[in-house]
Amino acid sequence: MTDSSNRKLAMRVDHVSKNFPVLSGSGNSTGDTFCVFQNVNFDVHEGEFISMVGHSGCGKSTLLNIMAGFDRPSSGGIIVDGKEVTEPGLDRMVVFQSFALMPWLTCFDNVRVAVRSAHPDWSSPEIDEHTQKYIDVMGLTGSEKKRPAMLSGGMRQRVGIARAFCVNPKVLLLDEPFAQIDALTRGVIQDELMTMWQKTNATVFMVTHDVDEAILLSDRIALMSNGPEAELAKIIDVNIPRPRTRQQMIESPEYTRVRNHILKFLISHQKNGTAPPEQNNSASTNSTSSAAGDSPQKVSV
Ligand SMILES: Nc1ncnc2c1ncn2[C@@H]1O[C@H](COP(=O)(O)OP(=O)(O)OP(=O)(O)O)[C@@H](O)[C@H]1O
Ligand SMILES: [Mg+2]
Repeated sequence: MTDSSNRKLAMRVDHVSKNFPVLSGSGNSTGDTFCVFQNVNFDVHEGEFISMVGHSGCGKSTLLNIMAGFDRPSSGGIIVDGKEVTEPGLDRMVVFQSFALMPWLTCFDNVRVAVRSAHPDWSSPEIDEHTQKYIDVMGLTGSEKKRPAMLSGGMRQRVGIARAFCVNPKVLLLDEPFAQIDALTRGVIQDELMTMWQKTNATVFMVTHDVDEAILLSDRIALMSNGPEAELAKIIDVNIPRPRTRQQMIESPEYTRVRNHILKFLISHQKNGTAPPEQNNSASTNSTSSAAGDSPQKVSV
């Protein structure tokens, strides 16, 4: 499947809207619904790294869950390989902010279980060899036998990334994958993710609050307006040559252009934050602020 520019499509997000029930104070449905986002429409091309940025509560995780098949849209659909997504599948692997590893399995087995599911016809040594390759690329060599409780947050997320990449998914879905990781480790894992992405030619859709992270990693950045009834406001191209380093990035005029564009967008939407009917405002009034990190330019929303 190709789009009008003849590039191969990895995923089509086809006019997707999502409504949730409005709950009463006691948690029961009132019978009303509210629209989180509406008519979100874009293509993800094969081999592309696309990020989504928007204020808290605009529906980024909800959209990612719909792409993964964990949730269904209220209207519209997600198309992969010409078919509508109706359930989770190994063609769409997800890396969550919360790591989501199986605590009773070792680091090695958390990755191995995914390889085995994707290749049920492989022999045990073949599965082990493939697993070890991804363990090594993600810098986990020597920690194979440790269970998640014995790993640092950064190591846990490396396991999550290795597990997602090792099955060679059609699209990799990342929901704020580095949000719980300290700034220095985050930089290292971002580099590892870039290396893995370039080696595997994977297609990635990532949700992030970190503007610099989005610019460093992405070919395009999708900006969502605020919810309820959020919309895909615009998609910005990031024309910084690859392979990228942080140093090259911050010296690039394109970096300044893209960053200013995103920050202006986020600031202009900051004042209009609204919460869904049944909730208080705390989730929707995020500010754009400087955060401590490995780069003085780092900005999160
Ligand atoms: N299962 C659900 N039932 C009802 N409302 C929900 C459900 N899941 C999400 N919501 C609501 O939908 C809105 C969007 O939530 P979502 O988690 O997608 O936002 P987000 O953009 O990912 O925010 P953040 O940046 O804080 O992670 C929020 O108002 C949230 O409370
Ligand atoms: Mg979210």
